Amino acid sequence: MSANEYAPELATAARVKELAMGLWVSAMMMTAVRLRVPDEIGDKPVSAEELASRLEVDPAALARLLRALGTHGVFKETDDDVFAHTDLSRVLREDDVNSVRYQVLWTVAPWTWQTWPHLETAVRTGERVFPDLYGKEFFPYLAEDAPESAEIFNRAMTQSSGFTSAMVADVLDVRGVREVVDVGGGRGHLLRTLLERNAWLAGVLYDLPGVVATADPALRTGGELADRARVVGGDCVERVPPGDLHILKNLLEWDDDRTVATLRNVADVVHPGGRIVLVQNLVDDSPEPKVTTGMDLMLLLNVGGKKHTRRHLTELLTRAGLEVVDVRPTASSLFIIEVARIGA
Ligand SMILES: C[S@@+](CC[C@H](N)C(=O)[O-])C[C@H]1O[C@@H](n2cnc3c(N)ncnc32)[C@H](O)[C@@H]1O
Repeated sequence: MSANEYAPELATAARVKELAMGLWVSAMMMTAVRLRVPDEIGDKPVSAEELASRLEVDPAALARLLRALGTHGVFKETDDDVFAHTDLSRVLREDDVNSVRYQVLWTVAPWTWQTWPHLETAVRTGERVFPDLYGKEFFPYLAEDAPESAEIFNRAMTQSSGFTSAMVADVLDVRGVREVVDVGGGRGHLLRTLLERNAWLAGVLYDLPGVVATADPALRTGGELADRARVVGGDCVERVPPGDLHILKNLLEWDDDRTVATLRNVADVVHPGGRIVLVQNLVDDSPEPKVTTGMDLMLLLNVGGKKHTRRHLTELLTRAGLEVVDVRPTASSLFIIEVARIGA
């Protein structure tokens, strides 16, 4: 039967089943990436048998996995049981220049498999489910109980910044700035990019102690940017170091009270005439709406947080005594949102 004779009602049903099988696709992606199948396939097609012998897995089961992923455009079967890369599978290699390996591993980290089944509870209550499942909040859990997940999380953030730091630096005007503070700056990819591009600029990387302990070596003592960089561990809900440009990139994604407390802390220490810049995406203006809204629910589950709409972000800023003064798009889903004290 040719494709155009296929009954439309079956096509609709199949599409809905495909959506419901999203969890299965996640498991397939996780398995291929954990087994390092993408890293084992080079420029030429390779048989499942050869791949399986290198990876020490079952050849028939491996072929079935790659065939299933192939229906999603991840790998392709070029001959019977012979597989090659596609654009979507190549970026799963660790050494690919556009690698998303750690972003995929973060999406399917062990704790996510525990939290997603509780989405119904989160939707009923509007509250995070993480503390009930793990006995503590998400970030302390990562730091204290899950070193592997923490490593994957931090690598995923760095990998994601690898795509966007230059795009942010292209749009963010730092002329006249002496010291920038990247609040919740992860391992410092964006700060490094800004310092490399602007020879006069100094910067502070501020994040939780366990995260800055593994900051980019270029920023740490002895690193090539160390004379212009300070690495400071702390909790931004409690305090924030002073500076004259505070950047908060993908940070204000937890519960509203912490967001407002952090914004107030920043507003308290920014030097007179200094600036505060939020770098984040917006739910109501995203070029990747499925990613943004999926992440929005993930944030509900783990930290009781959210991705913001323009309106909601404005409400939170108002609570902190701040207002939006400028919004600029970047070449990514991130916006550069300049905020200032109301009426300043
Ligand atoms: C979504 S990540 C974003 C990291 C980085 N800004 C980026 O865009 O790649 C959020 C960051 O906030 C940090 N963070 C979480 N709670 C924090 C706190 N209370 N004080 C300081 N940083 C915190 C995390 O360790 C993490 O690096």
